[in-house]
Amino acid sequence: MGALLDRHPGTRVDVVEPSAGMIARSRRTLPGGAPVTFHRSRLEDTAPDPEAYDLVAAHFFLDCFDPAGQRGQIAIIDRALRPGGTLLIADFQMPPSGALARLRARTLLWTMYRFFHLATGLETDRLSDPDPALEAVHLQLVKRQVTNAGFLRSDMWQKPEARASPSPPEGGTPPPP
Ligand SMILES: C[S@@+](CC[C@H](N)C(=O)[O-])C[C@H]1O[C@@H](n2cnc3c(N)ncnc32)[C@H](O)[C@@H]1O
Repeated sequence: MGALLDRHPGTRVDVVEPSAGMIARSRRTLPGGAPVTFHRSRLEDTAPDPEAYDLVAAHFFLDCFDPAGQRGQIAIIDRALRPGGTLLIADFQMPPSGALARLRARTLLWTMYRFFHLATGLETDRLSDPDPALEAVHLQLVKRQVTNAGFLRSDMWQKPEARASPSPPEGGTPPPP
């Protein structure tokens, strides 16, 4: 967030985070007077203005939810993004190839999800791929960088400028603009 504000002065940032500890930690990384508003809340308990945001960053967030939870969070994010807006995601993933890399990832994921499920009440106990839910709202994958032997993905998704409107029935009158 500090790098974003350094490179793009004038940017205003809203942070939605239910944990007071995480908010305090994040505040400590920012200079005094940074144009950042912290909302201590779960995302689903907020009502972001529709199409109000140029950019949403959801790092290690969607992997906290099962597929139904991901669909709910992605619907909120999609509604908040302006057409042409960008969604950045960093998440764990199961490496698409490599027996050793997959075994390592499976072991790490099993340990992390068991720990966080029991210790923090994380609502899911396994990793779910958010791509189907992102594609279902017609977000488009622009760039994906995979690192750490396939275990981490960093994505850039874009909301289309204009969603296709249904074409008029053949011979019918087009709907008013
Ligand atoms: C793994 S941490 C990632 C934190 C941070 N984004 C980062 O990259 O370091 C997941 C974060 O999601 C937050 N979180 C969990 N459920 C949430 C919800 N329903 N709405 C908003 N934030 C939530 C947790 O409090 C936690 O801070």
